[in-house]
Amino acid sequence: MRPHSPSSPSSSFLFFFFLLLIPFSTLATTNTFSSSSLDDNSDHLYEQDADTLANNYTYEPPTFQQHQQVFTVPDFINDTSAQSPSSQAQPDSTMCNKASSKPNRVVLPANVAPSHYTLTITPDLKEFTFGGYVEIDLIIHEATKTVQINTKDLTLKTTTIEFADKTHEPVSTSFDDHRDTTTFTFESEIPKGTAVLRILYDGILSDKMAGFYRSSYKDAEGNTKYMGVTQFEATDARRAFPCWDEPAAKATYSISLVIPTELVALSNMPIATITQVEPEQKTVNFEKTPIMSTYLVAWAVGEFEYIETTTTKLEKPVTCRVYTLPGLKEQGRFALEITPKVLEYFSEIFGTAYPLPKLDHLAVPDFDAGAMENWGLVTYRTVALLFDEKTSDLRFKEQVAVTVAHEIAHQWFGNLVTMEWWDHLWLNEGFATWVGTLAVDHLFPEWDTWSTFVVDDMQRGVGLDSLRSSHPIEVPVADPHEIHQIFDAISYSKGASVIRMLSSWLTVDVFLAGIRRYLKKHEYENATTDDLWNALSEESKIDVREFMNTWTRVIGVPILNITEADGVVTVEQHRFLSTNDVKPEEDETIWWVPLGVHPKPSSIVDPNQTLKSRSLTFEVPEGPYLFNKHYSGVFRTNYPPAAIGRIGKAILEGSDLVGLSDRAGLVADIASLSKSGHTATSNFLDLVQYYKNEETYVVWELLAGRVGEIASIFSENERISQGIKHFQRNLVDRMVQKLGWEFPEGEDYLTSRLRNVILRSAGRAGHDATVAEAKRRFALFVSDPAQDSILHPSIRQTAFEIVLSQGGEEEFRHVLKYFHAAPKQDQQVIALLALGFVQQPELIAEVQALAISESVRPQDIFYVLAGLAANPASRRPTWEWVKSNWNTLSERYKSSMSMLGACVKYPLSQSSDAALIKDVKEFFADKDTKDFQRALDQSIEGLDVNSAWVAREQEGLSEWLTLNKY
Ligand SMILES: *[C@@H]1O[C@H](CO)[C@@H](O)[C@H](O)[C@H]1NC(C)=O
Ligand SMILES: *[C@@H]1O[C@H](CO)[C@@H](O)[C@H](O)[C@H]1NC(C)=O
Ligand SMILES: *[C@@H]1O[C@H](CO)[C@@H](O)[C@H](O)[C@H]1NC(C)=O
Ligand SMILES: *[C@@H]1O[C@H](CO)[C@@H](O)[C@H](O)[C@H]1NC(C)=O
Repeated sequence: MRPHSPSSPSSSFLFFFFLLLIPFSTLATTNTFSSSSLDDNSDHLYEQDADTLANNYTYEPPTFQQHQQVFTVPDFINDTSAQSPSSQAQPDSTMCNKASSKPNRVVLPANVAPSHYTLTITPDLKEFTFGGYVEIDLIIHEATKTVQINTKDLTLKTTTIEFADKTHEPVSTSFDDHRDTTTFTFESEIPKGTAVLRILYDGILSDKMAGFYRSSYKDAEGNTKYMGVTQFEATDARRAFPCWDEPAAKATYSISLVIPTELVALSNMPIATITQVEPEQKTVNFEKTPIMSTYLVAWAVGEFEYIETTTTKLEKPVTCRVYTLPGLKEQGRFALEITPKVLEYFSEIFGTAYPLPKLDHLAVPDFDAGAMENWGLVTYRTVALLFDEKTSDLRFKEQVAVTVAHEIAHQWFGNLVTMEWWDHLWLNEGFATWVGTLAVDHLFPEWDTWSTFVVDDMQRGVGLDSLRSSHPIEVPVADPHEIHQIFDAISYSKGASVIRMLSSWLTVDVFLAGIRRYLKKHEYENATTDDLWNALSEESKIDVREFMNTWTRVIGVPILNITEADGVVTVEQHRFLSTNDVKPEEDETIWWVPLGVHPKPSSIVDPNQTLKSRSLTFEVPEGPYLFNKHYSGVFRTNYPPAAIGRIGKAILEGSDLVGLSDRAGLVADIASLSKSGHTATSNFLDLVQYYKNEETYVVWELLAGRVGEIASIFSENERISQGIKHFQRNLVDRMVQKLGWEFPEGEDYLTSRLRNVILRSAGRAGHDATVAEAKRRFALFVSDPAQDSILHPSIRQTAFEIVLSQGGEEEFRHVLKYFHAAPKQDQQVIALLALGFVQQPELIAEVQALAISESVRPQDIFYVLAGLAANPASRRPTWEWVKSNWNTLSERYKSSMSMLGACVKYPLSQSSDAALIKDVKEFFADKDTKDFQRALDQSIEGLDVNSAWVAREQEGLSEWLTLNKY
């Protein structure tokens, strides 16, 4: 799946939403290189090259023989207690070394296994129920009198089992609500061999976005109508049919839907036959699926229309369609265009053709996550699939590309080869994120997607992993109820970053050869993380597992502390914590770290520059030098001020030494280190001043974001807040003038994105000309709808935000009206993201009420919360509001716990009031928090980091601002 995240309204605090499936992150954030700057600054020509290279992963190609010779197994790898040094603080990490063992998993008995399901579903879109009938072909491994199966919220009517040509009914049936199981006990023993279990049952077509559920929409006449669709990952197939709801329990499926004649039915496979049952009803029978997991089964029913194309380069052509509700299909054009290209690309690099005859994408108006990779029938949140060149914010286009590529990658990685159990979720999601980016970069090199990855996914993953309340990538999942909590930035973003680091080190070619080996070996079966390491080790002749274990089984990321003394540079690795209070027992891990010192000093002997011990020294090079060239290593670098000064000067001079990802990475590292207190925040502001000539989108996203973050977190200190805003205005002024508000015909994508970053930053800092222009354009926009081009769709959210934060009731009513009238979901989203910026208490209250009103789909609440959190005037009232509406919220999101977690996390994310920590703890003291405990812990730790930052830097920052006349 791909989770969903809002378009970072704060841009400093990239808060993302990892519900099941695919992260919406990409839609939300960043992208790089502005080629308009090529004309007037030839330095950028180099950067483009440098980064093409970086993305090409060719830097310092290692020789594998050498790796083998130099690599020695760090002792701690065997020592499980040392491997999870933070176990005292972190319950998860105590278990992390056992990721591949099977501690107390809540699973069904293994004595009986399914081989084929014949399933007939009859939905009732008026009563919101469905009838089901399932025949399951079983393999009885051991004779037994009991059969246990997963069910949830199903009413079983009749059950029989057939073996040895006789039919038996159970003598007793018992349910376990916590484990979601039904156990049938039969009088006589079912012998080893085969049997057929037949169950007739009823289910609920709920509105909870889980299982087989309903989604509402308005037709052209304004009538509310419903479609039905499934969402089964992780464990909700059991809400739709009795099954062995575990990823490794693969079986084949023959699915039939009995539906009203005028509706369309879809499932994983193409339609085999349609039979008319009654004049009003037909039965749609789908072809039998390949062997697959329950969580990937899917079907949908509704008034769908579609557009279609086919692949041209595959031996067996694949039919590709985008299905939508009536009137929307043309907005699926972009997704449709890229689908065959992505299928062909993956078929090639994975060395196996896409195994099904068709691939459909379906846009669903109510959808918890971003998208879901059901085999052959991928489902999406509308804004993650549909895009209109004329009316959509451009960033949604990249979002669509990234989401589509991510889901198609899963068709192999996840669907063809499936994780053995949820412990290995990261393998699915981290890999799909990495290879999805690879595909988008292949299709749209001009988007410079890998640089975006550096400022986006990578910062998100490393950011979360800098908290004690993070977890190792490989995390044991005992109870399926815990699963949703790991659909997060660790599994997706840190997972993908670690894969990028590895693939960069092995080279992408060798890495992909290993992937082909892995897919071939395990196709139509299940696999573990170790299986992948084995395949990569066989391919590369290097023991990949030994060093990857430090990245996937241990919590946290390292910081490289660099010191210069007596002509020697010393590098020392430690665990990095944003709270900057690592205890010795939490600091025992020695990561395998590719140093990437550039230019490589001759005194580093190892050509591959891997640090495999606590520290290493080399002679101080003559000029400036960088660590982590191309920023492919997953760590923070803490340079001494003198070294930063030398790099800064190189940046200012436009030196070849420092490429695009390097400039971005440096900002990210120093900003994070100044927040954690590893360096003074003034050092970060000093660094920013070296970026006077910066004109690329990616770097600006970070510059504007991280400076804006200071203004946001220090907002309660008037002196600092005003000073930083002054600094911010100075910083962006040149770019504001250069870029303006118009979007010239044919402008490249990254320049368009850059304009938005600059104007948003200027608006938040109160840049007079920007505020005035936003107001002027907004007034024209609302007075004459025919003139809506005055606010280009890609700048509309920013303009709304500016006028709302500067205005009052009237502006608010206009934006609200726009929200209610917007015909497209992406237009509604930008209004929701902006609404949280209102200043007046009564309007803030109105926005909060809107968030849980009928007008906002439950899936969209976090857009509203994201705005309310970024706005200093509303974050505290919004926390109070969450507390007083807790019962409503927890009832509403009881089947989407990540949303509930977001309701806690968002309002607190940018607060710096230490007293809130106590408040939060007291509030939850008597509540059941286990389903969002991680989000809660992370919120509290985030508050701790923010409040410590403010307390530590009050004085130093004020002094710096005064000294520099801000
Ligand atoms: C990758 O790098 C190699 C060697 O530097 C070059 O020949 C090739 O064209 C590059 N590929 C891409 C896609 O840039
Ligand atoms: C670690 O395990 C490897 C192989 O499993 C073994 O050869 C080595 O001696 C072990 N090292 C320690 C320190 O136990
Ligand atoms: C999981 O896959 C392995 C092969 O990788 C296979 O031997 C095993 O039977 C599978 N497990 C189940 C439950 O099917
Ligand atoms: C890291 O380096 C700085 C100097 O750059 C030094 O003051 C500090 O003590 C070092 N920290 C550790 C943990 O080695």
